[in-house]
Amino acid sequence: MTLRSQINTDKLPSHVAIIMDGNGRWARQRGLDRVFGHQQGVKALREVIETAAELGIGYLTLYAFSTENWGRPGDEVSALMGIMVQSLNNETETLLKNNIRLRAIGDIDRLADEVKERLNETINLTSVGTGLTLVVALSYSSRWEITEAARRLSAEVKKGTINPDSVSEDDFEKYLTTNGIPDPELMIRTSGELRISNFLLWQLAYAELYFTDVLWPDFGEKDFYDAIIAFQKRERRFGKTSEQILEK
Ligand code: IPE
Ligand code: IPE
Ligand code: MG
Repeated sequence: MTLRSQINTDKLPSHVAIIMDGNGRWARQRGLDRVFGHQQGVKALREVIETAAELGIGYLTLYAFSTENWGRPGDEVSALMGIMVQSLNNETETLLKNNIRLRAIGDIDRLADEVKERLNETINLTSVGTGLTLVVALSYSSRWEITEAARRLSAEVKKGTINPDSVSEDDFEKYLTTNGIPDPELMIRTSGELRISNFLLWQLAYAELYFTDVLWPDFGEKDFYDAIIAFQKRERRFGKTSEQILEK
């Protein structure tokens, strides 16, 4: 039985989020500069996007660059930004052909003009896509996002347009950069690290977490299937008892 045939396409996670980690170690293991790992990581990214689109997954969020990653050596940050622009240039056609819509979350204003322009261009061009929504987290951190949301919400309160007593979770969510995107049901992290690293802290509240030792540049179709199969074996209880879940 192939891995693909073990997947129940009626029970796919509506949203998969991935922390693509391990590019640097992948390169170092080969005696190469970390940047080679990032370049190789783009190939994995392409394969995973195609696999998600083919399966019929609605949303795929990829953590590409965190707020904390700004603190890396300048040449690595520049190389990553260069890879970003290059990927946007090369992949826009493929996104369009596969009916994929691109969206970005994060502090996009912090990006260099060239990256920002290319990103906005691809977002606009692919906005007609009705298949997979590909969300790229760039200059993103969850605490930045939540603080930003709190700041914007308090400004509304100050203006008198919102009554603080009536603010619900749903209202708060509207101020997050992920507004309109369902919460991830499955979060995958590669490279063996067992942490969240400031990624979607609010949105991952009830996600199933899947960790694999595979380094991101080696992650492919088969590994993605493995994660989905593991997800489909979990019992998601949302605070209820197992009996209550089985009754349904
Ligand atoms: C993930 O790989 C890519 C980014 C964070 C941009 P790393 O660059 O973190 O790779 P490791 O963790 O050092 O191996
Ligand atoms: C998380 O990876 C961010 C991205 C994958 C973009 P890091 O490699 O930056 O995470 P930490 O700092 O090791 O937790
Ligand atoms: Mg890392």
